[in-house]
Formats: sequence, structure tokens, C-alpha cells
Amino acid sequence: MSLFLEKNMLASRFLSCLIAISVFVLIVSSLSLLQFADNSFIPRSVFRLILVNSTSLYPTSSVTSGESKTPFLPLETFIEEKVQRQEIACQTSSSSNSSGGVGVIKVACDKKQAILRVYMYDLLPEFHFGLLGWKGNGNEMWPNVGQVPSYPGGLNLQHSIEYWLTLDLLSSNTPNITRPCTAIRVHNSSEADVFFVPFFSSLSYNRHSKPHGKEKVSLNRILQDRVVEFLRSRDEWNLNGGANHLIVAHHPNSMLVARKKLGSAMFVLADFGRYRAETANIEKDVIAPYKHMVRTLDADNSPSFVQRDILVYFQGAIYRKDGGTIRQELYYLLKDEKDVHFTFGSIKSNGVREAGRGMASSKFCLNIAGDTPSSNRLFDAIASHCIPVIISDDIELPFEDVLDYSKFCIFVRSSDAVRKGYLLNLLRRIKEDQWIKMWQRLKELTKHFEYQYPSQPNDAVDMIWQAIARKLSFIQLKAHRNKRYRSLQLFIKDR
Ligand SMILES: *[C@@H]1O[C@H](CO)[C@@H](O)[C@H](O)[C@H]1NC(C)=O
Ligand SMILES: *[C@@H]1O[C@H](CO)[C@@H](O)[C@H](O)[C@H]1NC(C)=O
Ligand SMILES: *[C@@H]1O[C@H](CO)[C@@H](O)[C@H](O)[C@H]1NC(C)=O
Repeated sequence: MSLFLEKNMLASRFLSCLIAISVFVLIVSSLSLLQFADNSFIPRSVFRLILVNSTSLYPTSSVTSGESKTPFLPLETFIEEKVQRQEIACQTSSSSNSSGGVGVIKVACDKKQAILRVYMYDLLPEFHFGLLGWKGNGNEMWPNVGQVPSYPGGLNLQHSIEYWLTLDLLSSNTPNITRPCTAIRVHNSSEADVFFVPFFSSLSYNRHSKPHGKEKVSLNRILQDRVVEFLRSRDEWNLNGGANHLIVAHHPNSMLVARKKLGSAMFVLADFGRYRAETANIEKDVIAPYKHMVRTLDADNSPSFVQRDILVYFQGAIYRKDGGTIRQELYYLLKDEKDVHFTFGSIKSNGVREAGRGMASSKFCLNIAGDTPSSNRLFDAIASHCIPVIISDDIELPFEDVLDYSKFCIFVRSSDAVRKGYLLNLLRRIKEDQWIKMWQRLKELTKHFEYQYPSQPNDAVDMIWQAIARKLSFIQLKAHRNKRYRSLQLFIKDR
């Protein structure tokens, strides 16, 4: 191909993309002018969600599919459409480097287009990558996005959410990294929708919760105290009482000292098991998946119904406290049954492969409440395309506002599960075609539970940012309510 042709092609592709972007921006801005002229604070994302397809939130009776009508399902579809649109808009990268990379256009994510503008505090490395042993040259605060330190493997990885979110923000201003344009890091705090606190709290708990040597206080505790002190000294925090701040505390024991003091912020958590309702709740906080330990099965080579000869699989630790006794009760009910694999013993990292094989050979995988309502076993089951059977009355599930878990999981109340014969009876009655339907859905959904860098459209990192964006209107509502009386006082004082 001649150089001329190639340039021409690139130019026309760029042009059509530009037109698409302008039309989209024009529509959004004219609509917001019409209806919401005086709201500058409300995140654009929320508008877009309502405006672009107002029918999607309130489906009309004309939407009749064979399946039951769930009013929120269209939102799910909407999110996937939206991401596709963004991909077209943001990634005008062409890979035509056959002639030495002439004219390769790469466009960074644009902060006007992003759904979420995030200001990340420049905390010292000892709060984040320093915990991974990273030492910057001189006063470097962040690692180069091209050579990032790796997170320690093994079971620590289940709670590595903090790491993936931070990396995604760091790379959001770099044109040469292809990622969805959902969140973007902004450097001017007055442009931010949310404030991200890059403290690797789960790692800090896992590695430093006991005092070393002669220390009286653990490093984990010292770091938490310093985070509290830092935030309380910031105008950005005090302006809103921290409500628009984002703190990742995925390990149930992380932030144990600081959580109450920072309870007005949004948390990214595994569940609410060890939190008081006023500190963490589903209104303001986001539930994030664990990073699964087993390898994700290839959707095209996933064993189907007849190839999975174990009916029910469970492997896990035994607990005697905090409602975990149900594991024991189920053990005695199920241990001698045919087609059931039920063993105790926590999965050591060398047993992960074995657990993966077991789940991939099973039709149903049990998720029984342990010392906390959630565990990474659910996400291992999803990655193995093994239909999860959830026996955990207080579990919270990631992205449940857009994912209908009843389409690919089976929920059983604890009080039913311990009735003799109930569980196996229920599972044996599920027919092959019903199972296949859930399995198909599961295979489509595994992508939402993958943490990776760079992030991909609708993977776990991207889904978390989207979930945070959906919380913003609630944060906004609270902020406005708090201002009802305060604004007037400030106004009078100024005079
Ligand atoms: C809006 O949503 C409805 C229902 O999901 C769909 O049929 C329609 O095509 C959507 N319209 C646009 C403009 O996306
Ligand atoms: C992207 O560019 C940055 C500098 O802007 C560089 O440090 C990094 O190594 C590059 N990453 C990749 C994956 O090429
Ligand atoms: C930050 O943004 C605000 C509003 O857009 C602007 O007034 C201010 O000058 C900016 N600050 C800096 C340091 O660029």
C-alpha cells in the first residue's frame, strides 16, 4: 500500500471519529442545557444514564421478551453499549506500523469524555508501592506506568483491588496505553468528581499488622493513623465531610483502626460483615469482587453438563464462630452422599490448581458463609463456570444493580440448607437445559470479574469505576441536603 493511501485512510478514520464525538457531545450538551442548566456539580454520567435512553430505565409494556421482565436489565445492556461507544471514541489508535509506524495516532482518554474524574492524592510511596518494595529514584512518587512493580502472589492477591485501581488511574493520562475511558485522573482537584486515597490497606494489613522487633505499634496501625490525620487536614475532605472520597479496604480486617473515623467516605469493600451499618452500607459503598485464584476457563473449552461428573463441590476452612457453624452442619449432611466433594482445609496456594480442576469438573459449587459473608470461592466458581450455590444470608454481591445474579447463581437460605435432604434434592431436580442456560450466562460474565492491567472494557476495574459513578447522585443528594441551612449562614457571615 502506498504511503499516501495509508495516510488518507488514517485521516478519514480520524475525521469520522471526530464527527461521531462532536455529534455525541452536541446532543448531551444541548439536552443538559435544556433540562439541567444550573447543575454543574452533578456528574455528567448520571445525566447521560438518564438522558441517552430514558426508556431504558422505565421499560414500556412493549418490551416483552419470553423471560420475566426485570426493570433493571436494560441498564445492564445500556452499560455494555455505552462502553462500546467509548471505545470507538477514545481509542483512535491505529496499528498500521507496517511502514515503520508512520502516522500512528494515539489519543489519550479525554477528561470531558470520561464518566468519572478522579483526583488522586500524592501520598508518599510508603502508603502504596513502597509496601511492595518499590523505591522511586529521588523524589519520584509513582512508578513508571511502563514498568510497574508486581503484587505479591499467593493468597494476598485476592484483596489486591487497591493495586489495580491505582495502576488504572496512573495509566489514564498516557496515550500509549489502551484502556476504557471510564475514569480519568485529574490533577486539579476542583475538576474532580471523587477523591481517591491510594493507601494499599489490605497489603498493609497482610504484611504489617504485627509489630516487628522492638516496635510497640504495628506499621499497619501507624499508616492508618497517618491517613486519618492527612485527610482531616485537607480542605477537599472538610468541604464535604469526606463524602466524595474513595477508600479501598477490601480485606475485612483492613482499616480496622481508621474505618470509623473515615466512615463518611465511600469504601470499596468485600462485604459489610465486620462493619457497623453507619460506617459502611450499600447506599454509599461499593462491593468489589475478590481477585479469583483459579485460572479462568476458556469459554469455548468449558466442560458442559455431562462432562462434569461431580454434582456439588466444596472445599474450605471450617469455622466455629460468627455464623460459620453452618459449614459443619452441611458437612455432616453431605459428606457421605454420592457425587459430592466436600472437604475441609483452606486452599494453600499450591492447592489452587487442584481446586480449579475440582470446580471445573463440578456442576454446582457451594459458597457457604464462613467467618465473613463473602469469600473468594464465589469468584473461583465463576471463573470455573461452576454454577454457584450461595448459602450466605448476609452476602453482598458486586455490581448487583446491573447484574441479575439469579440468572446464574442459586440462592438457598441457611435455614433451608440445613434441612435434611433439602439441598441435594433441589440441585438434582435442576434439569440439564436449565443448567446450560445458567452456564451460558456465566461464561458471558466472567469478564466482569477479571482484574488486569491495562484494564479492559467492562472488566472488574472498569466495572468498579462505573459502580462508583452510579453512587455519585446519592453523594450529591446528601451534600445538598447538608447545605440547606449551612449555606445561608455562610452567606450572612460573608457580608
Ligand atoms: C432504548 O432502549 C430500548 C429498550 O432497551 C431499546 O429498544 C432502544 O433501541 C433504545 N434506544 C436507543 C436510542 O438506544
Ligand atoms: C508509555 O509511555 C510512557 C512515557 O510517556 C513510557 O514510560 C511507558 O514505558 C510507555 N508504555 C508502553 C507500554 O509503551
Ligand atoms: C483548577 O481549575 C479551576 C476551575 O476550573 C481553575 O479556576 C483553577 O485555576 C485551576 N487551578 C490550576 C492550578 O490550574
